[in-house]
Amino acid sequence: MGIIIEAKGLTKTYGKRAAAFTALRDVNFQIEEGETLAIVGKSGSGKSTLMHLLALLDTPTHGTIKIDGIAASRLKGRKLNKLRNQRFGFVFQQFFMNANDTVLENVMLPLKIGKVNRFKRKKLAMEALKTVGLEDKAKNKATDLSGGQKQRVCIARAIVNNPKVIFADEPTGNLDSGTGDKITDLLFDLAKKQGVTLIIVTHDEDLAKLCNRIIRISDGQIISDQTVRSDYQAKASEKREKEAARVRKANK
Ligand SMILES: Nc1ncnc2c1ncn2[C@@H]1O[C@H](COP(=O)(O)OP(=O)(O)OP(=O)(O)O)[C@@H](O)[C@H]1O
Ligand SMILES: [Mg+2]
Repeated sequence: MGIIIEAKGLTKTYGKRAAAFTALRDVNFQIEEGETLAIVGKSGSGKSTLMHLLALLDTPTHGTIKIDGIAASRLKGRKLNKLRNQRFGFVFQQFFMNANDTVLENVMLPLKIGKVNRFKRKKLAMEALKTVGLEDKAKNKATDLSGGQKQRVCIARAIVNNPKVIFADEPTGNLDSGTGDKITDLLFDLAKKQGVTLIIVTHDEDLAKLCNRIIRISDGQIISDQTVRSDYQAKASEKREKEAARVRKANK
């Protein structure tokens, strides 16, 4: 497992001169592949700003972001879009769906951008819809779904191109707790089974606790960074150790 995202000296200032506001100040950390990371903090503390920078949707005023060791500032235009499209999945409330398109069209969108042929697009999108339990809604208009179903479509769209990292900004916000739990299970299942790196911005402490790492931010700075080994990681490493012991024994 290597480092998938590295942030060094990240600073973001919005606006100019008298209107300038520094939303993020000298933020440094690294994210390992397969981590489940929660970013928590009060409203206005800079969580979404940080998430947008990490996801390469916005550029920092100062500092650098490396993805798999490559400085993002070196990637421009098509290359940047390609990297974002191939490696990242987004569950953002503001990137909602195209209301008048069907559910299927919405889920196929990242593949369309990635120039995957229509036959394969449809197949992969139906698989993603199946994962979130909405294959029977494929032909419905996106507007005709409930809030929780829309959120599940967003997850389907986020996973359809088999991303390495999923960024989720308040994925359970505005949902009742039952639906929120379903969304949570879906996301953590992906992390567990497919080794997807999860980065979740949330106000919800219970959701944060499911992650193996919690970064707290306040006024644009990290005030704590705790790593806890979650149950599934402990099990995976136990399995690896057993296998290594078996190999050692066999080689004796
Ligand atoms: N485009 C912008 N121009 C100017 N200021 C901005 C802009 N975007 C965000 N800000 C300011 O930067 C600060 C951090 O905003 P950000 O959206 O990152 O907060 P947040 O932690 O995600 O809050 P919330 O929990 O309410 O979503 C806020 O004070 C906000 O007003
Ligand atoms: Mg926000």
